[in-house]
Amino acid sequence: MLSSTTSESSVRHAEFRFRCIACGDLSEVASQHFRCSRCSDLLEISDPRWNKAAENSAALDAASLKSIWKQRRLSLLPVDLSGVWRFRELLPAVEDQQHVTTLREGNTPLYELPQCARISGVPHLFAKHQGMNPTGSFKDTGMTVAASFARQAGFRWVACASTGNTSASMAAYAARGGMRSLVLVPEGKISWSKLSQALDYGAVTCQLRTDFDGCLRLLQELVLRVPVYQLNSINPFRLEGQKTLALELLEQLDWQPPDHIIVPGGNLGNSSAIGKALLEARDLGLISRLPKLSVIQAEGANALVRTLRETGGKRLIIVQAETHATAIRIGNPASWKKAVHVLEATGGACEQVSEIEIAQAKAEIGTEGIGCEPASAVTLAGLKKLVRQGFVKPQESVVLILTGNLLKDPDFTMEFHRGDLLKGTAREKESAALQPLRRPPVVLDATLDAVIRTLELAEKSDPPRSVE
Ligand code: F0G
Repeated sequence: MLSSTTSESSVRHAEFRFRCIACGDLSEVASQHFRCSRCSDLLEISDPRWNKAAENSAALDAASLKSIWKQRRLSLLPVDLSGVWRFRELLPAVEDQQHVTTLREGNTPLYELPQCARISGVPHLFAKHQGMNPTGSFKDTGMTVAASFARQAGFRWVACASTGNTSASMAAYAARGGMRSLVLVPEGKISWSKLSQALDYGAVTCQLRTDFDGCLRLLQELVLRVPVYQLNSINPFRLEGQKTLALELLEQLDWQPPDHIIVPGGNLGNSSAIGKALLEARDLGLISRLPKLSVIQAEGANALVRTLRETGGKRLIIVQAETHATAIRIGNPASWKKAVHVLEATGGACEQVSEIEIAQAKAEIGTEGIGCEPASAVTLAGLKKLVRQGFVKPQESVVLILTGNLLKDPDFTMEFHRGDLLKGTAREKESAALQPLRRPPVVLDATLDAVIRTLELAEKSDPPRSVE
């Protein structure tokens, strides 16, 4: 039987501190809801070794870090084979490496996008594909760290509210770490692919009759009543792991930062984590200038866009979220203040894109032979908008963060190609413009003639591309 607890549920560690993002209060422990005991705002993890600018003698040396991280690529230790723990000097330290729960996350590819570069008018265009992580999304990089600390603290149960990817990732890492997991998802609003992952990894899965924001609200109350450890991105250990996306990217570019990094925004944990990593990398001298970090949201889930436009980032505007990109169907983003901070600190932009723009961009990324899930495609759609506005200049280099794998949401892809995605919506007429990108499957009699005719038709309507 689960009993209520407060003190045993705290997570404690000596080397790093929890810092309140509002009042700056530092503490060695964080309560179950990961909020400041003085002012209730969110916590982040800080370590004096991560800031050279503060004239701190304990600060880590940039050249040594680069060399250690490179050396570890030759190692066969599980912690070195992980693309997250390889960067462990910039992570909170576990007491014992036996506590580390890893599925060899990170180590994701950086691809050039020649077709999308042509389409967007930005020749130096890359994608960092986080959908190539073990459970198919960027969540794994944060989950390995937070699940390891849950295990170290002796928790039997971990829990999250999710639009699908967090739950898939949490369930996998809980299973690997010998913990039980509880998943709260909005009923009917997440893809079966993601839900089936949670089931396979053995999670207790509750489909609640509410939206993501309702699930998260309920989880906040639950963790104060029963000793379950919450693994949403309010948990600052998650964001520490997600920082490594940026470190790995910078390493892949030989520490020459791109001009722009563009990321989708939902609950705003990932943008906050990437921004924190960039600022720490700058403070440590790992890079000499900051890329601009921009956040793109779906028009129907645009809380951060409105917050910046209508309140200058001072007060959150909560929205009733609706978008086919279900991963970012979030109206009350928990980490909005952290995201506002990193946008301001890096000089990035915040934009919104329509359902049509998302569908088009997803199909265009698919033509590169890599694909992604709808929420990830907002990055390309957003880039096109930022180029039109003159915020991104054609000669600048841009990295899109593709957050989830194409296979995460096959229904979206099928509906798009069959022409059903926007049927019955106000956008139906407009969506006719997407026709040239559609490749619906055709049902034929099993004859050679029928197949050859189809081949000839396809050749006529879509001649081969010239390869440069
Ligand atoms: N892209 C994908 C594929 C996601 O799954 C999410 C968030 C985001 C982008 C947005 O990232 O929340 O850090 O701003 N998915 C969460 C989930 C909320 O439960 O899987 P964010």
